[in-house]
Amino acid sequence: MTVTGATLVTGATGTTGSRTAAALIAAGHRVKAASRRAARLPGAEPVRFDWYDPATFGDALLGAERVYLVPPVGDPDPAAVMLPFLHRARTAGVHRAVLLSSSAISEGGPGAGAVHQALRGLFGHWAVLRPSWFMQNFTGTHAHARSIREDAVILTAAGSGRVGFVDAEDIAAVAARALTAARAPNADLILTGPEALSYDDIAAVVTEVTGRRVTHRHLTCEQLRDRLAASMPLEFAALLAGMDRAIARGAENRTTDTVQRLTGRPPHSFRTVAERELTRRR
Ligand SMILES: NC(=O)c1ccc[n+]([C@@H]2O[C@H](COP(=O)([O-])OP(=O)(O)OC[C@H]3O[C@@H](n4cnc5c(N)ncnc54)[C@H](OP(=O)(O)O)[C@@H]3O)[C@@H](O)[C@H]2O)c1
Repeated sequence: MTVTGATLVTGATGTTGSRTAAALIAAGHRVKAASRRAARLPGAEPVRFDWYDPATFGDALLGAERVYLVPPVGDPDPAAVMLPFLHRARTAGVHRAVLLSSSAISEGGPGAGAVHQALRGLFGHWAVLRPSWFMQNFTGTHAHARSIREDAVILTAAGSGRVGFVDAEDIAAVAARALTAARAPNADLILTGPEALSYDDIAAVVTEVTGRRVTHRHLTCEQLRDRLAASMPLEFAALLAGMDRAIARGAENRTTDTVQRLTGRPPHSFRTVAERELTRRR
């Protein structure tokens, strides 16, 4: 199949959207880079797009055949705004959709789970990416990256539980394949890095790579919830703390071969990502 029309990348200024747009452009595809702020990505056509403003949908969809979907951040019911958009996208000629969800959310589950459930009925070609926790949580603007920079500490209620942390570059590489390969996956894909690591392991690698001692402080679920509630609604704080409890019980202790299978190369290790993204900050 020849890829001619544009790919609309939502969340194009974000962690996975910016990398997905860059991967598509590098492979010679036309990209419309959508977000509320104009996304200035070399080689992409910026388009203003707001999930909560349907007046922005028409320009975004003009000429688009495929779409990468990053749900509106922090919205407990993203389907309410995403499903009307997806119906419109289909009418406008979009025939392939790739949704970013999470390893912790299954089809029909909360949040993006309802969009996941609807996707296969809306598009003949589709995929749902369900990555584990991002390695960039320790290198970007996430609370863990900030507490590492400010206090040399990682605070979790995950105990010694392991997580198959994944590089956002690998998520983007899979997204670009799922969007443009002759055959769409037509499946949901759990994405992990090459190994499942505890937060103690992460702290040890950050310490080695940066030369600054970083520790993992083990909190109880309630301690973490109360800390988080200082900066977000209690309900959301309890949800995040509950995810750490699930990790402590082993829910994320797995690796998959998805990155290797879709991209033909192994996923990056946390050490590789830390060396790439933490050493250049010093
Ligand atoms: N962090 C993890 O460990 C992890 C693990 C698994 C899954 N996830 C999932 O990853 C998703 C976040 O993806 P990400 O990290 O790629 O994004 P991100 O870095 O959080 O960026 C969010 C993007 O969405 C755009 N955006 C925000 N509000 C918008 C709105 N109302 N309308 C249109 N665009 C809007 C932002 O740009 P503007 O501000 O310019 O609009 C930005 O480009 C979440 O759904 C989360 O559940 C995260």
